[in-house]
Amino acid sequence: MSLDQPNSATAETLSQVERVILTPEQIAARVSALGQAISTDYEGQDLILVGVLRGVLFFMADLLRAITIPVKYDVIAISRYGPTSQTRGVVRLTKDLDEHIEGRHVLFVEDVIDTGLTSNYILKNLRAREPASLRVCALLDRPQHRLIDLNITYKGFELPDLFLVGYGLDYQQMFRNLPYIATLKAGALGRLAAAHDLQARGDA
Ligand code: PRP
Repeated sequence: MSLDQPNSATAETLSQVERVILTPEQIAARVSALGQAISTDYEGQDLILVGVLRGVLFFMADLLRAITIPVKYDVIAISRYGPTSQTRGVVRLTKDLDEHIEGRHVLFVEDVIDTGLTSNYILKNLRAREPASLRVCALLDRPQHRLIDLNITYKGFELPDLFLVGYGLDYQQMFRNLPYIATLKAGALGRLAAAHDLQARGDA
């Protein structure tokens, strides 16, 4: 299969995309600038990037390659108790760090921060391990839904309250592999949800 001849599944996915909000070039330029700033600020320090699965993988991989000083990374995985603001911040670690971070300079990396509840929970958890420093780097900041005051030291883009997919962001685990960040067409979410339910029933 050639890359410019997408199979029908790819064509179906792409037909749901409405508007590209951030192009691959815009993302790459910003990630490069963030990497340069981080490299300057942490020169000579024991730096470790920590991310939370799964959406951050794409940003994390590019950011690591934009950093020009020695750096390590680790990831944690979480499960949430629910989607509401009351339950969203109630999080359980399902995979802990493999690295010890006590006395090290930790940069917590997120793909997107909305309410801030996830970051707040994880930052508290990381802070208890007594790192030498703990800062936040987020590719996207959508402050409209913020419930917790957070200091984001390294920020990629501040965006309005749009439902976005691509470059790690998903809708029901789809669209993460788009090279850009985009909105979906009106009605796409409902159609995709219905297709997802049908498929789930078929798989059962
Ligand atoms: C996203 C993102 C953050 C969180 C931010 O994760 O990666 O972890 O939401 O939202 P908040 O600021 O309102 O807490 P998501 O739950 O979509 O999981 P994913 O990383 O697997 O896509």
